[in-house]
Amino acid sequence: MDKRSMPIGFFDSGVGGLSVMKEAIKVMPNENYIYFGDSKNAPYGVKSVKEVRDLTFSAVEFLLNKGVKGIAIACNTATSAAVAELRRVYPEVPLVGIEPALKPAVELNKDGNILIMATPMTLKESKFNRLMEKYKNRSKIIPVPCAGLMEYIEQGILEGEELERYLFQKITTYNNDEDIASIVLGCTHYPFVKNTLLKVVGENVYIIDGGYGTAKELKRRLNEKNLLTNSSKKGTIQIFNSSEKKECIDLSKRLLEIE
Ligand code: DGL
Repeated sequence: MDKRSMPIGFFDSGVGGLSVMKEAIKVMPNENYIYFGDSKNAPYGVKSVKEVRDLTFSAVEFLLNKGVKGIAIACNTATSAAVAELRRVYPEVPLVGIEPALKPAVELNKDGNILIMATPMTLKESKFNRLMEKYKNRSKIIPVPCAGLMEYIEQGILEGEELERYLFQKITTYNNDEDIASIVLGCTHYPFVKNTLLKVVGENVYIIDGGYGTAKELKRRLNEKNLLTNSSKKGTIQIFNSSEKKECIDLSKRLLEIE
C-alpha cells in the first residue's frame, strides 16, 4: 500500500484536539484523518506526569494500530508530559506536538500583559518554563492555570452566564486590573470558547492559539518525508473516543461542524 494514502492520526485528552484538526483539514483537505479523544480519562491537566505519559503512549499505540502515517499530539498537556519520550521510542514516525503560542503573542509588541491560559500541568512543566524564560524580558507574561475549564467544553457548554463568570473570575484573579495585550490559549479545548472569552475581556484583546501553526508544521513534516497524499478528492474523517457515551462522538461532530 502507498504510504501516502494512509491517514493522519490526531490525539487529545478529549474533544479539544479537534480545534487543531479543524485547522489541519483546512491546510490539507485531501488527507484522511483519524481522531482519538480520551474523554474517559480526561481531564489530563490535573493528573501526574507519569499518568499522562502512560495514557499518551496508549493513545499513540491505538493510532499506530489504525495505520496512521503521522501523528499530531493535539494536547498541550500530553505534549509537555510525553513528546520527548515519544520521539525517542518512535523515531521513524512524523510526530508533532503543541505548546502555548507565546512567540506570536510577544511579537505583537502590544502594550499590556500577555496572559497564558492553560492546564496546571502545562504551566508547571519544564517545557513551558523554558519557553517563558526565553521571552520574559520582552513582555510581562502571566500564567493563568484553568483547572475546570476543559470540563465545560467536554459537556458542550461553549457559552452562557456560568462560563462567563468562570472566565471573568480567572482573568481578574490573575490580572489585577492591568491592560491585557493578548491571551494565549495554551489548551486545545479553549479555542471553542473564544467568543465567550472575547465577550468577557473585550473585542480589542488579541486571542491567539497554536492550531494553525501546528497544522502547518504537520504538513511540513509530512512533506519532508514525502508522505503527503496525492489524492485530489476530499479526505475522510473517523472519530474514536474512549468514552462509551454516544454524546462524545455527537459533540465531536458538532465541534468539527460535520454531519
Ligand atoms: N486539551 C488539553 C490541552 O491542550 C488539556 C485538557 C485536559 O485534559 O486537562 O492541554
